[in-house]
Amino acid sequence: MAAAAAAELALMKPINPISKFRKGGTLRPRSSQLRVLASSQSGATAAAAPKKKKSGKTEINETLLTPRFYTTDFDEMEQLFNTEINKKLNQAEFEALLNEFKTDYNQTHFVRNPEFKEAADKMQGPLRKIFVEFLERSCTAEFSGFLLYKELGRRLKKTNPVVAEIFSLMSRDEARHAGFLNKGLSDFNLALDLGFLTKARKYTFFKPKFIFYATYLSEKIGYWRYITIYRHLKANPEFQPYPIFKYFENWCQDENRHGDFFSALLKAQPQFLNDWKAKLWSRFFCLSVYVTMYLNDCQRTAFYEGIGLDTKEFDMHVIIETNRTTARIFPAVLDVENPEFKRKLDRMVEINEKLVAIGESQDIPVVKNLKRIPLIAGLVSELVAAYLMPPVESGSVDFADFEPQIVY
Ligand SMILES: [Fe+2]
Ligand SMILES: [Fe+2]
Repeated sequence: MAAAAAAELALMKPINPISKFRKGGTLRPRSSQLRVLASSQSGATAAAAPKKKKSGKTEINETLLTPRFYTTDFDEMEQLFNTEINKKLNQAEFEALLNEFKTDYNQTHFVRNPEFKEAADKMQGPLRKIFVEFLERSCTAEFSGFLLYKELGRRLKKTNPVVAEIFSLMSRDEARHAGFLNKGLSDFNLALDLGFLTKARKYTFFKPKFIFYATYLSEKIGYWRYITIYRHLKANPEFQPYPIFKYFENWCQDENRHGDFFSALLKAQPQFLNDWKAKLWSRFFCLSVYVTMYLNDCQRTAFYEGIGLDTKEFDMHVIIETNRTTARIFPAVLDVENPEFKRKLDRMVEINEKLVAIGESQDIPVVKNLKRIPLIAGLVSELVAAYLMPPVESGSVDFADFEPQIVY
């Protein structure tokens, strides 16, 4: 899954780094935590088998916008990919995709060199801290994709071995991405304890059709984020703080292929694309993914400015390009190129900043909650207004023109 961690549906909840709304509307501090292990072994920490070290363990808060882990209804997935039941499954197309995944274009791409450690040692001050957070969040997001795809590969083996193998090969890609990021963390003497995360984190349940919408968007937005950062740093190498970005060009083609596979899956399930409900859900997922990314990134402007980007400009570029790509398959998308859409996003950022400030204040919980009420009402009304903006009808009923392709 993409580093964007975009498919987080936390929108009807206040965006706050240290607390979250539980069902029933009570605010309680989050108890689960990500664990980061301090490591003295430079470059030696493998993602697949992170070593637990009791000494030097530090803990960081898991936030509402931290990339999530997903699970789904695997029995329903099996039915959807049963060729006896679903005659629309185009096995020839899936076999072609499988061959492409088997080619494994990036088999030898993720090879490190001494530049990594040298660059990490040079990075000091606030940029170092925010950069570590970027590596942690990206690693968690990639690992989230690995877990979901691996399980789908396992569960679909009997009903549809071709689709199952593609999922397994996609989990190979995501494990590689997560591993590469975790090795990056080792340059900063840290490592994400992925084994601990697998067991300790809560999994968000999505029905299969929602997994398709959310994961498609997550992969495509991840592609656009990576390629945009890559192109920017290629043109402005003086902002290159760490060599990992040089790998984004080929890396993002993995995300693009993953997205194309979900396009093919959606095409094979036209009931998820061709009615009014599909249009409403498509717009809902677009909105939740775009808003989550925008709020997330605006809380981390120091990172984007640190690599020479204007956060809002970068995000709008990614949103517009992702939306154009998505319009090729979703039956409706948002009119993100209408300036009013950005104005609404910016108002949400202002409200979110106030919510974060309340969370960080010294007020007692009751007072914090009272202060939050009007802000949450404001945020919800902006979201609803953005959702109700006239949409762009898109997609193609017979899909005749649609073929997965590398967007570049
Ligand atoms: Fe991916
Ligand atoms: Fe990935």
